[in-house]
Amino acid sequence: MTPVITLEKPETLSVRNLVAERDLVRRDIELVFQLAERIKSAPGDYAQALRGKQLALIFEKPSLRTRVTFEVGMTSMGGFAVYLDHTKPRLGERESIKDVARNLSRWVDGIVARTFAHSAVEELAEHASIPVVNALTDLFHPCQALADYFTLGEKVGRLKGLKLAYVGDGNNVCHSLLVTGAKLGVTVHVATPQGFEPKAEIVEEAKTLARKTGAKVHLYSDPVEAVAGANAVYTDVWASMGQEYASHLRGQVFPPYRVTEGLMASADPSAVFMHCLPAHRGQEVTDAVLDSPQSVAFDQAENRLHVQKALLLLLMQNGR
Ligand code: CP
Ligand code: NVA
Repeated sequence: MTPVITLEKPETLSVRNLVAERDLVRRDIELVFQLAERIKSAPGDYAQALRGKQLALIFEKPSLRTRVTFEVGMTSMGGFAVYLDHTKPRLGERESIKDVARNLSRWVDGIVARTFAHSAVEELAEHASIPVVNALTDLFHPCQALADYFTLGEKVGRLKGLKLAYVGDGNNVCHSLLVTGAKLGVTVHVATPQGFEPKAEIVEEAKTLARKTGAKVHLYSDPVEAVAGANAVYTDVWASMGQEYASHLRGQVFPPYRVTEGLMASADPSAVFMHCLPAHRGQEVTDAVLDSPQSVAFDQAENRLHVQKALLLLLMQNGR
């Protein structure tokens, strides 16, 4: 029988929080992936793994996948999640973020937060005495990148030495793919229009990490060049949550970066297509690509559940 990580046999991460990928060492990621694999294959073994544990979900932005997977993930392990709608007022407006963190620490066992400012999640983590998980900020989406590389590894059978090409806006998802990919030895190519590149300091961070794992990080303006021979082609919306005001302008700049069957033909013949979702069909990706057999977008969405359950279990099982 598959060995089970239980409350009696705790294995823990080197960190108390997941605020950004830079917090995780390679062993942490391996531990999350190994446990996610076991949870995925035998979810019933974990039905009571977080019995009695409570999780607060703070969301300043909309969500389908992240909210449902965290809520269902907690319930399916015997715990409970409380959803706090912070679309209005935003976190920190009614009372300080520090006081929110200190209050929640008295009632629940963990906090998951989706905020605009990355500093808001950092501040929660600084003042909470319980684990804090980043559920997307303007800067990073670490839960997404973990589920994405777990999915890629599942599809291809390995990660080290693979090449992932990200095409589109150099946004939060792109940043997380860069840093997590570099840690895992995955070469990441990024193609963006001029002025929409990922942040230079995050590219540098990824390059430094990549030097240690033998991976490479390259920026391109030509999507065909970026995608050439890639094992995975990834895209995301052209205007992220909070940038809707710029959708029209972006809609004029980004069409050459649309992932089409033609662009997919430049990748490795066995390449997968990836998208964090939600997708704006006909904009950053065509229906034909998103609905093709090459597309693993809905497997990524499914794996958010298994990977986050593993993460929650590793962070919360010790009652920290
Ligand atoms: N991919 C993702 O985070 O989806 P939601 O915005 O629906 O949570
Ligand atoms: N970059 C997108 C990701 C959504 C999951 C956004 O921030 O809106």
